[in-house]
Amino acid sequence: MTHEVRAVVARQKGAPVSVETVLVPDPGPGEALVKVQACGVCHTDLHYQQGGINDEFPFLLGHEAAGLVEAVGEGVTAVAPGDFVVLNWRAVCGQCRACRKGKPWYCFDTHNATQPMKLADGTPLSPALGIGAFAEKTLVAAGQCTKVDPTASAAAAGLLGCGVMAGFGAAVNTGGVGRGDSIAVIGCGGVGMAAIAGAKLAGAGRIIAVDVDQRKLKWAEEFGATDTVDSSRTDAVEAIRAITGGFGADVVVDAVGRPETYRQAFYARDLAGTAVLVGVPTPEMTVDLPLLDVFGRGGALKSSWYGDCLPSRDFPTLVDLYQQGRFDLGRFVTEEIALDDVEEAFATMHRGEVLRSVVIL
Ligand SMILES: NC(=O)c1ccc[n+]([C@@H]2O[C@H](COP(=O)([O-])OP(=O)(O)OC[C@H]3O[C@@H](n4cnc5c(N)ncnc54)[C@H](O)[C@@H]3O)[C@@H](O)[C@H]2O)c1
Ligand SMILES: [Zn+2]
Ligand SMILES: [Zn+2]
Repeated sequence: MTHEVRAVVARQKGAPVSVETVLVPDPGPGEALVKVQACGVCHTDLHYQQGGINDEFPFLLGHEAAGLVEAVGEGVTAVAPGDFVVLNWRAVCGQCRACRKGKPWYCFDTHNATQPMKLADGTPLSPALGIGAFAEKTLVAAGQCTKVDPTASAAAAGLLGCGVMAGFGAAVNTGGVGRGDSIAVIGCGGVGMAAIAGAKLAGAGRIIAVDVDQRKLKWAEEFGATDTVDSSRTDAVEAIRAITGGFGADVVVDAVGRPETYRQAFYARDLAGTAVLVGVPTPEMTVDLPLLDVFGRGGALKSSWYGDCLPSRDFPTLVDLYQQGRFDLGRFVTEEIALDDVEEAFATMHRGEVLRSVVIL
């Protein structure tokens, strides 16, 4: 059986997205059909719409979602109809060279559904990050479904599916921030703010929020930042050094992903510190750095794909912390919107008015 559902599609580079009828097949072997309950609007959806990821239009957007499993295909045992799940874009394969080395959070061969979802005229869609969840129902690989506490709010829990997990993990997993460490986070959108919240939970000492938007800096204080820097007015590197006794932070997270913010992250580290790039650059961006500084400053320059998370380990834990009141996932949900409002939500995000707009289905 084919399911006809309403879904948000980006047909052409830069063109406004539209709500279309999309055909979703019944799950085949290893697949799961999920009735989406909530899906957050991530900056990466906008990157897709702008052609910043690749040219495989039309895209079925949306990838930060939670919902109920409606049906599973042959051989699926890990999830069953009725399960409340957060969707992930890291269904680890267990067999690639990263998995075999015991580093499955780098898995190089993650699983997605094999059958395509299509437009009504039969055109196959490219689901954003292999998910495509601005849709009443979506088809994923069963491994993309992670069961979490079913009493949690779908709007909040779904955000773990991308941005919040990426930011949290960039600080805690990739950056390795721990008790007493100093951290600076450049860019305090949904991703950066989660890095701040993660650093607080991990016991970081100084937590420095950097943004060009005063509103974000105010919110950052509510999430646990001990210091804020408005980098539209102040030199971010000098300010971070001044706050950290003249040295720089142990870890600096770039949650913007532009040459100028990466350069700030590089120089705002203490000697032997760690810079973590979690913001996603576009293809034309390059950075020039004196090689002697790369050597002389030491430490580590890391990138954080999805916060180096393992969904099976990290999603249930973070949902439990949320339910215990120790990690305020609900505060990332700035507004709840309808499927028809995604284009407007891109503009709202661009104006910096939200951490997350979440589509409720
Ligand atoms: N690595 C991953 O796995 C992963 C996952 C999800 C999102 N991302 C990426 O993370 C980035 C952030 O996503 P988001 O959803 O938080 O976006 P967002 O638009 O909500 O937030 C971006 C923030 O950066 C600030 N900003 C912009 N330019 C700045 C500058 N020059 N200096 C300081 N601050 C600046 C903005 O004011 C805003 O607060 C995006 O590039 C997104 O694609 C990466
Ligand atoms: Zn693998
Ligand atoms: Zn995302």
